[in-house]
Amino acid sequence: MSEEEVQPSPKKPIPPESEKPKQKRRGPVRKKKPVTEKRNDLPENSVNAVDQDDKKPETVKPPTDKGGTPKNVPLKVKPSIDIPRNVRELADLKGKRPIVALTAYDAVMGRLVCNAGVDFILVGDSVGTTLLGHKTTIPVDMTDMVRHTAAVRRSQPNCLLVADLPFGEASFSFDRLLDSARRLMQEGGADAVKIEGGRDVADDIEKLVATGIPVLGHIGLLPQTVKAIGGYRKFGVDRDEAADLYTDAIALEEAGCFAVVAEMMDEAVAKELSKQILPPLIGIGSGAGCDGQILVSTDLLGYGLRKPPPFVKPYANLSQIISKALSQFVSEVREGKFPS
Ligand code: KIV
Repeated sequence: MSEEEVQPSPKKPIPPESEKPKQKRRGPVRKKKPVTEKRNDLPENSVNAVDQDDKKPETVKPPTDKGGTPKNVPLKVKPSIDIPRNVRELADLKGKRPIVALTAYDAVMGRLVCNAGVDFILVGDSVGTTLLGHKTTIPVDMTDMVRHTAAVRRSQPNCLLVADLPFGEASFSFDRLLDSARRLMQEGGADAVKIEGGRDVADDIEKLVATGIPVLGHIGLLPQTVKAIGGYRKFGVDRDEAADLYTDAIALEEAGCFAVVAEMMDEAVAKELSKQILPPLIGIGSGAGCDGQILVSTDLLGYGLRKPPPFVKPYANLSQIISKALSQFVSEVREGKFPS
């Protein structure tokens, strides 16, 4: 999303605790299992591929070719004792430490993001707006999602990988939804899928989960509905909308989502929701009260054509660095400095 498209939201008070709709939970409360095991099935260059007892970060020398040129991206490997190996372990992190996730869309970024030590990678349909030049995520289709998911998987076979179901996939039939989720897992190599929506998609999510497909929910701002909502804005500031978000979050919990993304949600509502539901609530532009944070990697890296949304902290300005390097190359060729 771009900053220019963020719309103001009507200000109304958040419903007090006593006025929240009381939901009847359909299923039994899922028991959480403590994370006790360490990851030991990872490739050598993985963030976890160090002696778990060695607390000091260790620099790994990249492999070089015969001329001594590095063949791979240099990696700073830090020990990590609790990077989740599966969605159950991810869910179990709730209340223990903040969960952290980033998007990646290709093999290079997949490798870098995984080695930074994230708990999972999301191959978001934000690939449409960040890399493919679309104005919204709506044009992104299954071909895009399978291709980008597979590229990320090829670079990091052991990182927990979630892939977005693109616009429309949850609206045809359950069979089509199942087939699309199957493709993301079998052809793309995803461990789980993400679906935008709350109670409207909860029944289908419950069936997917029963089939063995782990689902990450997504409520608050749903970028796939941007044409209907008229622009990007905060959700849950209005009292009725806050109550709706609560109902949606409970529906996703009951459907069996292992975690729920809360995008651009009123901070107080997000904080309260994360206390109310069992699955971790992973915020993006929803404040510090969530159980974890996810960001679009290109936004925090300053790599892209569009201005990142205001809640993103710029950790780098890659576009500037790349522009400078490219211009220098162009000048040096023109001036006869390269090749020298
Ligand atoms: O597509 C995406 O990158 C997302 C994140 C914003 C959570 O859905």
